[in-house]
Amino acid sequence: MRLKEVQNKFHLELDVIYGKEEVDSFFYLLTDEHFGMRRLALSQQPEFFISKEEVTSLFEALSKLKREQPIQYVLGKTEFLGLPFKVNEHTLIPRPETEELVNWIISDQKTSKKKRIKILDIGTGSGCIAISLAKNLPNSHVFAMDISLRALEIANENAKLNETNVLFTKGDILNRTQWISRFDELKFDIIVSNPPYVRHLEKAEMTNNVLQNEPHSALFVEDENPLIFYESITEFASKYLKEDGQIYFEINQYLGQEMIELMKGVNFQDIELKKDIFGNDRMIKAILARD
Ligand SMILES: C[S@@+](CC[C@H](N)C(=O)[O-])C[C@H]1O[C@@H](n2cnc3c(N)ncnc32)[C@H](O)[C@@H]1O
Repeated sequence: MRLKEVQNKFHLELDVIYGKEEVDSFFYLLTDEHFGMRRLALSQQPEFFISKEEVTSLFEALSKLKREQPIQYVLGKTEFLGLPFKVNEHTLIPRPETEELVNWIISDQKTSKKKRIKILDIGTGSGCIAISLAKNLPNSHVFAMDISLRALEIANENAKLNETNVLFTKGDILNRTQWISRFDELKFDIIVSNPPYVRHLEKAEMTNNVLQNEPHSALFVEDENPLIFYESITEFASKYLKEDGQIYFEINQYLGQEMIELMKGVNFQDIELKKDIFGNDRMIKAILARD
């Protein structure tokens, strides 16, 4: 079959869902992945013939896209801060807002005089925060935890893919009895987390491809207790951060003021709330006050 015919079928079936331009962009990403054909080369070879197996695999991708699976899951990969990351249905797809959070930490570290720093990423998912920090901060020793073993498998693969050393551990941050066995020997300079923070009442604002495909355990918290992870992580941080250690969170855009109050209550100072590129309150950082 000619590649052009496959492309036409993509448009026929997917344009109503995504629009022509996005379908083209999906198609070029897939052909680049399958045959290493860049967009220009493809447009110059409309008669390019592909094998039966190749047609089958492109049609499989087409049917996933038709079911509104995110292109990152269809490809099995994405990029975060210019680095490659494998993703699957057990890992959240890293977001641009999270890149901003990581950039905040990296730029703060440029003025730091510390020789060696220990960092912990809580709820690491694909490992995007932990691995990009390890890659960009050569003086760091990075630890990361997640409750999902499946996510940790992908995070481990991503650490290898990016040639970084991150120590991953499985754990439930909401279960205080697990803290002692895992972390009692350690004190961190930085704790960072992008925990689940979307309330069920906010589902109406979300698109189908997120709701139907991304892991709900990575996204949602109960409406009645939306800061449950932040309460637990700030309490954890007050025990396991070094004096003057820093905490960084990605947060729910509607709960910035509540986050400030929460952090003040757990002995954090120099609290700074920051907006993302869309103008939403999205990140917060603070320093653990000395006793
Ligand atoms: C919003 S995702 C963030 C993933 C990744 N850090 C990122 O920024 O793309 C939240 C992560 O927290 C993990 N998680 C959920 N409940 C947890 C718990 N009780 N303890 C530790 N991790 C948890 C989920 O498995 C998920 O990977």
